[in-house]
Amino acid sequence: MSAPNKSYDPVEVEALKPEEIERMRNEALAAFAAAADLEALREAKAAHMGDRSPLALANREIGALPPQAKAEAGKRVGMARGAVNKAFAARQAELEAERDARVLVEEAVDVTLPYDRVPAGARHPLTTFCERVEDVFTAMGYEVAEGPEVEAEWFNFDALNFEPDHPARAMQDTFFVAGDKPGRETGVVLRTHTSPVQVRSMLDREPPIYVVCPGRVYRTDELDATHTPVFHQVELLAIDEGLTMADLKGTIEHMVRSLFGEGLTTRLRPNYFPFTEPSAELDMQCYVCRGASVGNPEQPCRTCSSEGWIELGGCGMVNPRVLVAAGIDPEKYSGFAFGFGIERMLMFRHNVEDMRDMVEGDVRFTRPFGMEI
Ligand code: DAH
Repeated sequence: MSAPNKSYDPVEVEALKPEEIERMRNEALAAFAAAADLEALREAKAAHMGDRSPLALANREIGALPPQAKAEAGKRVGMARGAVNKAFAARQAELEAERDARVLVEEAVDVTLPYDRVPAGARHPLTTFCERVEDVFTAMGYEVAEGPEVEAEWFNFDALNFEPDHPARAMQDTFFVAGDKPGRETGVVLRTHTSPVQVRSMLDREPPIYVVCPGRVYRTDELDATHTPVFHQVELLAIDEGLTMADLKGTIEHMVRSLFGEGLTTRLRPNYFPFTEPSAELDMQCYVCRGASVGNPEQPCRTCSSEGWIELGGCGMVNPRVLVAAGIDPEKYSGFAFGFGIERMLMFRHNVEDMRDMVEGDVRFTRPFGMEI
């Protein structure tokens, strides 16, 4: 029996001595504990866990030991490396948590600070209000229709049953673009209302037709507190079998309630328009005082001037002559139409006292409306 080969005792190999392994382990642990941040920890990791670290080099020495010595040395080095790995992972978790907590504090945003961005401006109330009206009608199945602002005189007047000598064609109302002999030749005008879109819609489509037509219109008025030469209207047209004035009234009542609140009534007053027969002026009950200001000087109402009613616009059953001009059989179909001014409606809805505020585009006017989308 040969004596144990002492020269291969791992305790005798310098790098594998227990106290050496212990020292390497302790140095690694001390270095990790001393690492103040993740960067320092990364360097300590390279020094104590990398390929050229003392423990990695000691591990390599094991290969040269005889089989019987390998187990003991392997266990010693393996345990030391395991302890080093765990210490590293624990310190890393600690430093990461510290970093996250610090970042949360450092990068916190004080949402109460005053902001100094360039203001984004605001959409004009005319645009947003037109869209609201469109929404009311598209929700009922109506389609949005548009027409040109530079319009043939035929669409603007003739097809709508304006007689050649109707005073509305005269120069003081209409901007003539070409053909300035009203009544004698058909010229080109800046449309004076959105009603020509009725005719265009009927020529473009087969009944049943349900369209809502918002748009800009022009008249030769001076700009002052209550007039503007460029303004906006919304036109409504429904063509179907069996439509009556009751359908017209119910439809407008729905619009009024959607825009101004529940429970408001409407009323019709006889009027004349060449393109509707019968024609009427449509009023809505004042949505502010609901009539309470009428004959009650104690409680005057600015919105309706204590009249209890607000005039909305013109309406009526489409004149059969207009249906014929637009190629629709008046024996089979009937229809109703309604048109109103958007500026006027905005003025009483928001107590805007001067029409010019609406035209000038000053952001101080539009900004309070900016959130209405
Ligand atoms: N187009 C008319 C105007 O500008 C308003 C109007 C009246 C429109 C009666 C209509 C209507 O659709 O039926 O004054």
